[in-house]
Amino acid sequence: MDYFNFKGPDLYAEDIKATDLAKEYGTPLYVYSKATLHRHMNAFEDSLKEKKHLVCFAVKACSNLAVIHEMAKLGAGFDIVSEGELRRVIAAGGDPKKVVFSGVGKSEQEIEFALSQGINCLNIESAQEIDTVIKVAKKLNVVAPVALRVNPGVDAKTHPSISTGLKNNKFGVSEEIAFDLYKKMSKESCLKISGIDCHIGSQMTSGMPIIEATDKIISLYKKLLAEGIKVDHIDMGGGLGVTYDNETPPTPSEYCAPILERLKDLDVSIYIEPGRAMVANACILLAKVQYQKDNGDKHFIITDTGMNDMIRPALYGSWMTIINTTVHPDGEAVKSDVVGPICESDDFLGKDRKLNVRNGDILAVRGAGAYGSSMASTYNTRRLPCEVMVDGDKSYVIKKRQSYEDIWKDEIILG
Ligand code: LLP
Repeated sequence: MDYFNFKGPDLYAEDIKATDLAKEYGTPLYVYSKATLHRHMNAFEDSLKEKKHLVCFAVKACSNLAVIHEMAKLGAGFDIVSEGELRRVIAAGGDPKKVVFSGVGKSEQEIEFALSQGINCLNIESAQEIDTVIKVAKKLNVVAPVALRVNPGVDAKTHPSISTGLKNNKFGVSEEIAFDLYKKMSKESCLKISGIDCHIGSQMTSGMPIIEATDKIISLYKKLLAEGIKVDHIDMGGGLGVTYDNETPPTPSEYCAPILERLKDLDVSIYIEPGRAMVANACILLAKVQYQKDNGDKHFIITDTGMNDMIRPALYGSWMTIINTTVHPDGEAVKSDVVGPICESDDFLGKDRKLNVRNGDILAVRGAGAYGSSMASTYNTRRLPCEVMVDGDKSYVIKKRQSYEDIWKDEIILG
């Protein structure tokens, strides 16, 4: 559920008309709803409240400082994949002690920075990374809290580009190797074996794959326990899907209940790393209709936003809901491709959409909060969009529209 609803013919972001926001701040414009963010974070917190837990918001989904700050205020931890994301968490007032660090290619420098900040856990993804962590921990003279990211070979039944738990994905280590690596790590005094980590994919719309993965992680937990290796937490990653079209994913509590049930008698805390489910539907992307035209049989609606601001449709063929923020009492819906101004044939937001629009109308791409602004680029030397947060009948700029000079400020002309 979100707080972007129609009142009469107009779409509102909480208590503000979307067209008023577009008028005030210009387009393209990312509009976040604070109440929706809070609702989602509280839903995850609530669904795990029976057991010691840590909800680690996956910063990659939306890395705006204001969004991170809201999460931190509600007690969130964070899942990060780079030093940059850790620096963002710290800059936004998040607690490094609640940060888990995933990623297959952490550099020595990144590991050193993370350990020097006292993060909660390094989710190690290969045998060679263990050696780097040992080296850095010895150099800093600290005990590094670690987990292994285990790739359980479970099909998340999602788009192949966002599946991560299959044997042929680059992520994590297999269960067979994991057991030996845990034994090796347990002999190192500069490592504290803190957890077992796992993340099998994103945009999962069924709860079954995560149940299968949980069972596999529990069997590893028991095998390790029999060997005298006790972990403090089990991290089941992120991955809960959202409704972009007509998907019916489980709610956070439906998704977490079977995990909780399976872990309830084990002496561990539960970590999860939701990204998409936390922010996707807490944001819309507003764009203005510039032109319309027909090429052959196709009708095109050309907007002022495109794949540079929202790459998901072009990159994964993702379906995102596009609506007119003003419903016209007359006129006809026409089947159209909604495209952007970028010089690429794949620069589209949606294909074959039935829309009744006029030039100057403001369209909204729903579900834009996850992997929207965080994957935006300045391709075609287009400025990154302005972002605002709505709180009731007030709105606040949380990212200024970039200036052109900002785009090229680090470039140097040879003298
Ligand atoms: N934890 C780890 C280790 C991850 O790799 C990911 C996402 C998450 C947590 C958060 O997963 P979520 O709850 O958001 O599903 N750009 C793609 C999604 C890539 C997801 C990568 N990993 C998209 O736009 O669909």
